[in-house]
Amino acid sequence: MKDLQESSSLPEYVILICCFSLLFAWSGQAAASSNSCVDCHSNPKFVTTNKKLYTYYLRSENSVHAHAGVTCIDCHAGHPDKADKASAHGNSAKGADVALSAVYYSNIPNTCGKCHKEIVSNYKKSKHYEYLSKDNLLEMRGANCVTCHDMGMSASEGNNLMAKAIASCKICHNYKTGNYPNIPKRIRVVLERYAAAKTLYSNLIIQHHDKIPEQVKNRLANSFLVIIDNLHALHLGKVEVDSNKLLVSMKDIRRKLRKGIAIDCN
Ligand code: HEC
Ligand code: HEC
Ligand code: HEC
Ligand code: HEC
Ligand code: HEC
Repeated sequence: MKDLQESSSLPEYVILICCFSLLFAWSGQAAASSNSCVDCHSNPKFVTTNKKLYTYYLRSENSVHAHAGVTCIDCHAGHPDKADKASAHGNSAKGADVALSAVYYSNIPNTCGKCHKEIVSNYKKSKHYEYLSKDNLLEMRGANCVTCHDMGMSASEGNNLMAKAIASCKICHNYKTGNYPNIPKRIRVVLERYAAAKTLYSNLIIQHHDKIPEQVKNRLANSFLVIIDNLHALHLGKVEVDSNKLLVSMKDIRRKLRKGIAIDCN
């Protein structure tokens, strides 16, 4: 972890994200003119003939993913160059109930993990992954990506990532199931600290860009990533300590900046 913190730097991270966004935006545009999935699934006739189908389409179209240029086939596979349903779906674009489908519940982590590589590799260290394939009652299974992120898709859900995630813990972690019922409370504290630290970080970077050494910026930026990684691995104790440390150190930096004290590199 230590090595990772030292070697990773904000500019690289930002540039990487930018490149990815451009790539996705570009591929999205290239496909937009001939995407039969969208052409057909967006047909307003489905509002009456197949409401559920149309709802899936709407959620996807309004999502962070659509804005980032991620298209239907990035998650579902299929042939968007074929106009008729059978050839477009082919053997690959299957429904969520089919075990071979990319969006079957136990296949979802790998599907999302094609792009969210760090997250999926940490997720795979978790009890959630371990319990994902246990053929059990739904609430005794481990959570997969869309259990917590809903579809991880609508833009409004994106803004509400924290609220959605907390609400989702309660589905399985409650007194009725007896499965770690205090987890929703603990994760709320963590996520509130995380959000507060993030807001402070963005504000201070904007207002005092020159006064915060690059090394400190990199260290802080990396701390956010480490928290997200440990969170997906379910190292809750570690995340509790780290989120507290991060918020305390953000507040300390704010105090120093207000008083005109120089920020040193440790
Ligand atoms: C010409 C219309 C048409 C095209 C093109 C089309 N679909 Fe569909 N799709 C449908 C209809 C209608 C359904 C509802 C189930 C059915 O009738 O087979 C459906 C169902 C689905 C389902 C749910 C699984 C199922 O079988 O019920 C998925 C996932 C899906 N489509 C994805 C895609 C993807 C991805 C593409 C592009 C590669 C695509 N569709 C292209 C009309 C289309
Ligand atoms: C970011 C990945 C992602 C993208 C992009 C995406 N989907 Fe999905 N889709 C999913 C997942 C995951 C599920 C299963 C949801 C669940 O289990 O609740 C799903 C479910 C569906 C279903 C219902 C399947 C069923 O059996 O009930 C349809 C239909 C569908 N998607 C169509 C589309 C269409 C059309 C597009 C493009 C306009 C699209 N999706 C884009 C991930 C995606
Ligand atoms: C147990 C619930 C849970 C599961 C399972 C889960 N996540 Fe998360 N995820 C979260 C929480 C909580 C956050 C932090 C939300 C916030 O910003 O407050 C998060 C954050 C994220 C982020 C944003 C990261 C950032 O840097 O801001 C992405 C992307 C993500 N998850 C993708 C995934 C993928 C892909 C999977 C499946 C491999 C997955 N998640 C599984 C709960 C979960
Ligand atoms: C083809 C690549 C790709 C796939 C597949 C993919 N994503 Fe994403 N995802 C992205 C991009 C690009 C973004 C927007 C930039 C970012 O926030 O990283 C994003 C953003 C997100 C976010 C952050 C939303 C926010 O508001 O901050 C979550 C959560 C997320 N994805 C979850 C998922 C889940 C769950 C799946 C699987 C159902 C999935 N992703 C599949 C590329 C992908
Ligand atoms: C679909 C059900 C489900 C959901 C939703 C869910 N979990 Fe879990 N969780 C489980 C199961 C199953 C276990 C394993 C229980 C066991 O070890 O007996 C578990 C275990 C855990 C553990 C203990 C890990 C360990 O190594 O001891 C933590 C922490 C945890 N979950 C956090 C969360 C958080 C935070 C959320 C919401 C963001 C969440 N879970 C949502 C099913 C779920």
